[in-house]
Amino acid sequence: MSYKKDILIFILINLVFLLVGIKSYRNTYKIWRWKRNLGIPKHLKHFNSLVQDANGFAISKAARKDIDAPEYTYGEITFTSFIALLSQVNPNKNTVFYDLGSGVGKANIACAMIFDIKKNIGIEIFKELQSASLRLKKRLLSHPKYSNSAKKISFINGNYLNYDFSDANLIFINATGLFGGTWVALNKKLDELTEEVIVITTTKCLISKKFYIKKETRLEMSWGVVNAFIHAPAPK
Ligand SMILES: C[S@@+](CC[C@H](N)C(=O)[O-])C[C@H]1O[C@@H](n2cnc3c(N)ncnc32)[C@H](O)[C@@H]1O
Repeated sequence: MSYKKDILIFILINLVFLLVGIKSYRNTYKIWRWKRNLGIPKHLKHFNSLVQDANGFAISKAARKDIDAPEYTYGEITFTSFIALLSQVNPNKNTVFYDLGSGVGKANIACAMIFDIKKNIGIEIFKELQSASLRLKKRLLSHPKYSNSAKKISFINGNYLNYDFSDANLIFINATGLFGGTWVALNKKLDELTEEVIVITTTKCLISKKFYIKKETRLEMSWGVVNAFIHAPAPK
């Protein structure tokens, strides 16, 4: 009896390993197929060579010498993980994308390299970072493969709290360093949007009652992996 029980346990354990193995193989295959379909390795190579000397951390540090606040803390997206995140909301010819607090513009550049969208805008408070993003845009423009998408990028120097982004239908906010007054004011501004807009935030979800979390996922950033929240307008 005990012998039969041992065999049964042995078979069950092997079955579990087999199922876990199949699941992990299927996930690996799905990711491989997704990367191949979008040509991720090729784009990543171009992206890396395009941004290689754009050191947002150093530029931001120098720019914050005289004026600093937690919300100015610098950090960046990583290419493949960010594209995987955007893929979940299917950017297309009608998409008006904003990165609020765009740094050296890596999110806008990455988006432009993969998705054919209508408008692609980054708003950055520090002139030095915005200038660096304009240099990246110039490089992208000179690349025959990406010049059309690059034309649709605008990098604006300003405070997103004072900027009219009401034409947005896809917004990315790297919200990890956003607290207090700025975070409340930004949520209030998002509340006033009338477009059907998807808002993606990192680390924390919106406090605005106008949105609900459609999906929660993980995003690899320059400093590690964080939660990312995909919000859609709450049904009325
Ligand atoms: C964490 S970085 C994110 C950079 C970029 N979005 C990325 O993920 O690669 C946040 C950026 O937001 C900028 N920022 C903070 N408050 C801002 C404001 N009120 N208006 C515009 N930019 C702001 C900071 O200067 C910084 O460059």
